[in-house]
Amino acid sequence: MDKDKNRETKEHKGGTNPQSFDRIVREVFAPIYPVIAQQIVAKTLTTSGRCLDAGCGTGALGRAIAQITDLHVTFFDQSIEMLELAKWYANDENIGDRSAFLEGDIHSILLQDESMDIVISRGSSPFWDDWHRAYGEILRVLKVGGHAYIGGGFGTKELRDSITAHMSKEKPDWRDSFKDRIKAEREALPQIMEKLNPASHTIIDDESGWWVFITK
Ligand SMILES: C[S@@+](CC[C@H](N)C(=O)[O-])C[C@H]1O[C@@H](n2cnc3c(N)ncnc32)[C@H](O)[C@@H]1O
Repeated sequence: MDKDKNRETKEHKGGTNPQSFDRIVREVFAPIYPVIAQQIVAKTLTTSGRCLDAGCGTGALGRAIAQITDLHVTFFDQSIEMLELAKWYANDENIGDRSAFLEGDIHSILLQDESMDIVISRGSSPFWDDWHRAYGEILRVLKVGGHAYIGGGFGTKELRDSITAHMSKEKPDWRDSFKDRIKAEREALPQIMEKLNPASHTIIDDESGWWVFITK
């Protein structure tokens, strides 16, 4: 099957249309996902149960984590076109039987309370309209003791530098559309965490990128 067949290109929230995003992930961002997946497993020690990849795009992070764990991954995105690509790749990588695909909005996730062992999300939160609601939803679907790993890292400083250099050349304004949102989210987060009051949260902010690691 040709995954690109009969696909219309539409502009999407999330920075780009699914076809060009898919190409950029394959050609530029691909090396970061296995590195980040390893870091998430090392930090959360979660290797079985259910994982939600929130704002999954083409599912690269959720697929990378499925490859090194026994997790069942629910790929969740507001874009049906992104989910179709995620599904195509999941089947191609033989993890289709441990995958589910759910279209929806992070502000109102159609999943039961305490149904997930881990929620991961990369590069999506700057596009969320209401972080208090979105993080509240993430905590709602997490089991008590479960972890969330949300942010925008690149895995390592070297990967961040090389990808930033590549993207700045290809699309000089690629960060402009969301850099103010990244700043706003980070400033809003301490108060959001205080109100939602999870068991713990830590900010990981190093040369590879920024994440919030939450335990419910
Ligand atoms: C920059 S892409 C990142 C995709 C993927 N996580 C990755 O790192 O390759 C952002 C994704 O977040 C999704 N997204 C943005 N806002 C969303 C929302 N409110 N609810 C669900 N998904 C959302 C977009 O559709 C897009 O697929």
